[in-house]
Amino acid sequence: ISYLNSCVNPILYGFVGHNFRKNLLRDKVLRLTPGSEEHVTIIREIGEKIKVDFWRPDSPDLVTIGKTVDIHVPAAQLDMVFTILHQSGMEVKVMLENLQEAMEAQMDQRATKAHGYTKYNDWATINDWVSSITAANADLISSQVIGNTYEGRPMHVLTVGKKTGSAKQAIFMDCGFHAREWISPAFCQWFVNEAVTTYGTDSEMTTLLDNMDFFVLPVFNVDGYEHSWTNDRMWRKTRSKNSGSNCIGTDPNRNFDAGWCTIGASSNPCSETYCGSSIESEIESKNLANFIRTNKAIIKAYLTVHSYSQLLLFPYSYTYDHTPDHSELLSVSRGAVSALTSLHGTRYTSGPGAATIYPAAGGSDDWAYDLGIKYSYTFELRDEGFYGFLLPESQIQPTCEETMLAVKYIATHVLNNP
Ligand code: ARG
Ligand code: ZN
Repeated sequence: ISYLNSCVNPILYGFVGHNFRKNLLRDKVLRLTPGSEEHVTIIREIGEKIKVDFWRPDSPDLVTIGKTVDIHVPAAQLDMVFTILHQSGMEVKVMLENLQEAMEAQMDQRATKAHGYTKYNDWATINDWVSSITAANADLISSQVIGNTYEGRPMHVLTVGKKTGSAKQAIFMDCGFHAREWISPAFCQWFVNEAVTTYGTDSEMTTLLDNMDFFVLPVFNVDGYEHSWTNDRMWRKTRSKNSGSNCIGTDPNRNFDAGWCTIGASSNPCSETYCGSSIESEIESKNLANFIRTNKAIIKAYLTVHSYSQLLLFPYSYTYDHTPDHSELLSVSRGAVSALTSLHGTRYTSGPGAATIYPAAGGSDDWAYDLGIKYSYTFELRDEGFYGFLLPESQIQPTCEETMLAVKYIATHVLNNP
């Protein structure tokens, strides 16, 4: 389907609104390999002076020699960016020739607004789904609102586990920290459904739900998620106003009390990795942190789900120092990754955040670990950059199936190692 056809297609046009009207016709995603300090400087300058959107790493200051960089370059900037890159002699690969086409390919069930587990659901649909799945599974699910977002939307936490009447250990899992990482909320929804539909038949899931509770926050950054559906598919941060700046939003994964704003984060409100005006300046961060602090005695694991890169990370990211639990965290991550890979052969890398991707302070994983929650993991789901944030709906099912195996592996380890 061509862009022009899609514009006059009433179903497509009506459903996606002005998100599709935004002209991404000739935008491209490029993968650069900086081979020298000079290349790194050139990429940082492109990031600062030209309006390009960093996909990986999250901002220009996180670029390092030898690690590939994925950038989304708007059509108007392509000539200039190509000229600079060719002069520099840097290795450049075109990952996505046409972003518009990838956005269309990403949603193949766009004609329906009904909830589904193999499609991307907008916020209104997820919000209704929370009520309906809770009501339909009263023996296994209860839900609560842990606070509202900046724009006043509810942050739901579903408690999934057999109601036994006695205190149970718990695992906390959130999705949707970063708005454009749509596969993440899709996984939290899949997880809840899979838990209730396999309870009683799958012996591992039955044991888990009989003996522990999962607190699942399907969308953390609800305002950002909504914005990524209605205005800007590539939005990442929260939607709060910044005093003294016209730029909107804070990176919620730089906003926690873990070496806050010391490294791999920016104090510039216009940066995609802005750490915020203070620790927990974002109401979403504060709501999450308050819930976890309140339930600290029972929460044994903290899982936070992002995309993309196929990584399973654990603390620390704010320092290269290893945690006192390094060897256990590493061996559990390796077990989880081999379970994941066994299903479809998807390759993951695991390790501490700082050394495995880049140092970045203020993350919720490091904060939870330092609070005393030993099993703290960040997932970076599919893919490795072919579609990046625009992972097609056809990959939701295999991605969720394989990720379930990793989550169950970690949960079983937690249950057996109280
Ligand atoms: N891509 C994620 C981010 O930059 C990785 C998070 C890893 N953890 C961390 N504390 N930086 O937000
Ligand atoms: Zn993320």
